Amino acid sequence: MIKLEVKIEEKSNSYPIFIDCNLSNLKSEIFDFINGKNCIFVISEKIYNLYGKILDLKKETVFILKDGENQKNFKNYKKIIDFCLNKKLTRDDFIIAIGGGVVGDIAGFVASTYMRGLNFIQVPTTLLACVDSSVGGKTAINSPFGKNLIGSFYQPNAVFIYTDFLKTLDIRNFKSGLGEVVKYAFIEKSCCFEEDFNLINFLETNNKKIIEKDTYTLSELIKICILLKISVVQKDEKESGLRRILNFGHTYGHAIEKITKYKKYTHGECVIEGIYFAFDLALKNNLIDKNYMFFMQDILKKFDFKKVQKFKLDKIMPIMKMDKKASSDFVRFILPTDYSTVKEFRVNDLLTIF
Ligand code: GLY
Repeated sequence: MIKLEVKIEEKSNSYPIFIDCNLSNLKSEIFDFINGKNCIFVISEKIYNLYGKILDLKKETVFILKDGENQKNFKNYKKIIDFCLNKKLTRDDFIIAIGGGVVGDIAGFVASTYMRGLNFIQVPTTLLACVDSSVGGKTAINSPFGKNLIGSFYQPNAVFIYTDFLKTLDIRNFKSGLGEVVKYAFIEKSCCFEEDFNLINFLETNNKKIIEKDTYTLSELIKICILLKISVVQKDEKESGLRRILNFGHTYGHAIEKITKYKKYTHGECVIEGIYFAFDLALKNNLIDKNYMFFMQDILKKFDFKKVQKFKLDKIMPIMKMDKKASSDFVRFILPTDYSTVKEFRVNDLLTIF
């Protein structure tokens, strides 16, 4: 088992992230961790149907959440709060989220608000949640006005990752997670981690093993991504500066997700399209040369991501300007400037940096 540690400066305590492959250890490892406290599980319906028997959790402690981004809503938030109240959970008790980003986000938001905050454990079951949403403390639900508009920064007490869960993840959703993995590769040096993983090289060398979901390779890959994310989040938990580099590929990617109503493409497919867009923008503004652009294209080709349709700029620009991180005059973009290196730039309507 791999154990990583997150230390957030503002909080005196740190929390562990465990990476294990053996799902049959889940129950005992979590119960050891919560040490006799009460708990409830918020679990994705798909995961419950696939793994309910192996997990063997007491039915009365389980809240099953249907799958899909639209489940991250007020109605389910209230239902989970009521479930906690009915179980008489106190601040010393635990909410345990088992599922992808939707489950982690809503359960985390409940955990951060129920009695002003109770203990919270993340058990991510998708690659996307393993390498991104389960680490770093962003929690949220959606509003009719937009995605993740109601939320908080609330760090979990622990994250337990079991690569076994990824075996049943369908290839499209697996590749959606790889979209975030590729993002880390192109921002690695800017994450300021003391060790040089050369994740770009790791992806190039191990692309076949990754697609085949080789257990050891996946554990290593997840570990590298998490260490990079931890390095960023530890320096800027509330996203006032450095953490914005994690949005590489997301400014354009989020706009596509929104324009297609979060239905047509996966998050990762949109992030990959956003990475292409960011490279185009960087080339146009002489931040990088063509060789780096071709190099990026070669690596992305190896993973055969689904292509996303092109949208006219006048359709996309107003949406990018509505992004939480934008302003009415410009859009903030994270752009490549060198190998594995990115920087933040302001970009105007003519796609020129200033
Ligand atoms: N998903 C980007 C972040 O956690 O900041």
